[in-house]
Amino acid sequence: MSAAPVPKDWLGLKDRVAVVTGAGSGIGAAIARGLADAGVKVAVIDRDGRAAESVAVALTQSDATAIAVACDVTDERAVLAAADVVRLRLGQCGILVNNAGILRAGALDTVSIADWNTVLAVNLTGYLIAARAFGRDMLAANLGSIINVASISAINTQPRSGAYSASKAGVLQLSKQLAIEWGPRGVRSNAILPGFIRTPLSAAFYKDPTFENKRKAIIPTRRIGEPNDIADAAVFLASDRASYVNGAELLVDGGLDGVLMDMVPRPGFNTATAD
Ligand code: NAI
Repeated sequence: MSAAPVPKDWLGLKDRVAVVTGAGSGIGAAIARGLADAGVKVAVIDRDGRAAESVAVALTQSDATAIAVACDVTDERAVLAAADVVRLRLGQCGILVNNAGILRAGALDTVSIADWNTVLAVNLTGYLIAARAFGRDMLAANLGSIINVASISAINTQPRSGAYSASKAGVLQLSKQLAIEWGPRGVRSNAILPGFIRTPLSAAFYKDPTFENKRKAIIPTRRIGEPNDIADAAVFLASDRASYVNGAELLVDGGLDGVLMDMVPRPGFNTATAD
């Protein structure tokens, strides 16, 4: 017996308005595509205006409604102006995906304070700025969903990842704080914690197939994640199918977060090969 066909709009997202930050590339672009495929009108926001434009054009070419807005999420005035543009061109924003992020490796004893501040400004403060700017419409309508893309690094330490990990840990708390402050006003806020995802941000890790294979070997699902893996989770959290999901942290990591004890050598027991 074959499964009944799934109605295209089973998520009930048709004609909602979403903003995705950092949507000119990687995970953000996939989330913009996933939302557009579910009938959402999407604002593709990125500080790289050309990248945003090319993602928005690709979406409109497949009959979606999408616009590109060049905007740096650390610039509050620019984000407020972007919110006005979105309202004018697409309507009231009901979904925000906070995704724009940067990675700067550096040990805590040597990382420059300028780098530390830049990482926090984009990865954490930028999320609050966007939540406030685009959340205004949601609070006015008593309906909205904010999805904050954090990282497995938010709950796992890693040498030379201090600023990034700290910023992502902050995202988890910001996400939960929004959930309790805005939940009573109809706005949900949830976090996604991606594991290893193949995007331009992480491309350097996959240049050498030996490294890629070593990475696959420690992930219980035995593959590197793709941007669509995160998009599927984001689209669910955006929808009313997740209407009782608020303040949650969703790991999308192929099981990677659970492998610590498999790293402990036990003759005949280990399945991961992190040598
Ligand atoms: P990416 O580098 O492919 O895309 C990030 C996009 O954000 C770029 O288009 C960039 O121009 C934009 N951006 C950066 N700073 C911005 C700013 N100040 N204002 C507006 N736009 C800005 O990166 P990727 O991999 O798609 O990452 C997306 C999110 O997922 C980030 O928050 C990242 O930390 C997170 N993540 C990624 C993982 C991975 O393995 N790729 C794993 C865990 C989390």
